[in-house]
Amino acid sequence: MHKPLIAASVMCVSMWHRPEETLRKLEEEKIDLLHADVMDGIFVDNLMLGTDAVKALRRESTIPLDIHLMIESPEKKIAWFEPQPGEWVSVHAESTKHLCRALVLIREYGAHPMAALNPATPLCMLEEAIDMADGILLMTVNPGFAGQKLVPQTIGKISRLRQMLDDRGRQDIRIEVDGNVSFENAVKMRQAGADIFVCGTSSIFGKTGTPEENIARFRACVGD
Ligand code: DX5
Ligand code: ZN
Repeated sequence: MHKPLIAASVMCVSMWHRPEETLRKLEEEKIDLLHADVMDGIFVDNLMLGTDAVKALRRESTIPLDIHLMIESPEKKIAWFEPQPGEWVSVHAESTKHLCRALVLIREYGAHPMAALNPATPLCMLEEAIDMADGILLMTVNPGFAGQKLVPQTIGKISRLRQMLDDRGRQDIRIEVDGNVSFENAVKMRQAGADIFVCGTSSIFGKTGTPEENIARFRACVGD
């Protein structure tokens, strides 16, 4: 299994309370990725992080971006975000008629393409596109909002996806989990085969503990 990667969820950082200090702390703690949620109000019922915000994050931080596109027809808008080598970009299978095109386009920028699935979307949706991806993002809550409760069936889905990848000899493809990745849930998600963890209000940006304390606790939970 891959070394676990921690992706800090930017939408869970207050924009009004010295966000640059939080970024510096995340850098000091050697967080692996900054998870940037992009929402268009159509694919999901919320609006979040536009192109300027994503580009500012890239400028202001040394941590590679993990851009999660929750937008309709993402293949038409990937260029707006100017993906960079080493970044991760995920597109939802439910949001496009052209999943393969979107994944190929992301790779042309030198970024890691990922296909994302909502909790109710079956794994068979990935069958023909999986080999074009470097990772699969499984939503473990319905996308759109922070602070929701885990959809419990998604834990079994992680195991089934890991098995599907093993059967295809694609142990190299990473599994990212996003939504209510709490300290407790992360243990089960890791056991099921997840290796990128989106950390938001359920863990490192929770009401208790400092981000530094919470990051150390989270690392211990996923065996990092
Ligand atoms: C949506 C987001 C949220 C959130 C995760 O794609 O990525 O799921 O930031 O944080 P919590 O821990 O609040 O679910
Ligand atoms: Zn996300």
